[in-house]
Amino acid sequence: MGEFVKLEVDGGVGTIRLDRPPMNALNAQIEGELRAVAEEAASRGDVRAVVVTGGEKVFAAGADIKEMAEKSAAEMAAKEQHGLSEAMTALARLPKPTVAAVNGYALGGGLELALTCDRRVLSAQAKVGQPEIQLGVIPGAGGTQRLARLVGPSKAKDLVFTGRFVAADEALSLGIADEVVDGDAGESARRWAEQFASGPARALAAAKAAVDEGLEVDLASGLRLETHLFTGLFATDDQKAGMRSFVENGPGKAEFTGR
Ligand code: CAA
Repeated sequence: MGEFVKLEVDGGVGTIRLDRPPMNALNAQIEGELRAVAEEAASRGDVRAVVVTGGEKVFAAGADIKEMAEKSAAEMAAKEQHGLSEAMTALARLPKPTVAAVNGYALGGGLELALTCDRRVLSAQAKVGQPEIQLGVIPGAGGTQRLARLVGPSKAKDLVFTGRFVAADEALSLGIADEVVDGDAGESARRWAEQFASGPARALAAAKAAVDEGLEVDLASGLRLETHLFTGLFATDDQKAGMRSFVENGPGKAEFTGR
């Protein structure tokens, strides 16, 4: 368990919580802790889905500006060998359903963290943005890439060029948020994650890999990947349980073990 990043597991759902008041600024220590927690959540059998969350007022205000303000290009290049971007990639590759519960600000690296998840639930008070341009830089932990893939290039460029803060309702219409709730985003995010606590874990991992890795390649290669993942699932207990249960009892009654 890290100092600033905690993993709490309850009922099959792992909650990754950032806790570095006041702003959850993502410093070098948090980068390492995020990578470690992503590996732990990936490998633990009792974690079947993951909620990523921060504080009540601030999900995360981005990379720690005070820590990097005086760094040289060479220092940043060396750091990026195992920096924030890699921590984000470890989270994005977590082979389980993940959802970000965003209360308050998710800015810069904070939004980039939320973008690593499969789904984003925002509280009505949340504000998101990629304000790095105001610091004379660009997003450096996936913001230009994951955001553009999610909302398309022109909307991503507007947000990255202007650095403006986007309120929850606009985030919903842009497709950055999947759901906006009054009150705590964590409750709704947890309800979504709980659906998968007793789900067919290998099929869920395959579904995630098929979509995410398939989007990176041409259609023919994506379809080959899908076929490969689909046929591989016939080696799992859950495929046998799912199809036998359908044949004997009808749809939606299978009990899965995750094996
Ligand atoms: N890093 C370091 N310190 C930060 C910080 C950050 N990202 N965000 C806020 N802080 C600090 C402030 O400097 C201030 O510190 P002091 O008390 O020592 O003065 C303290 O947190 C409180 O901040 P504010 O007074 O600004 O609080 P506010 O409530 O008025 O505003 C905010 C909150 C809107 C989040 C505002 O602080 C803000 O805009 N933060 C910066 C957001 C930003 O630019 N993020 C991008 C970071 S770069 C990045 O993430 C690069 C990348 O892609 C990897």
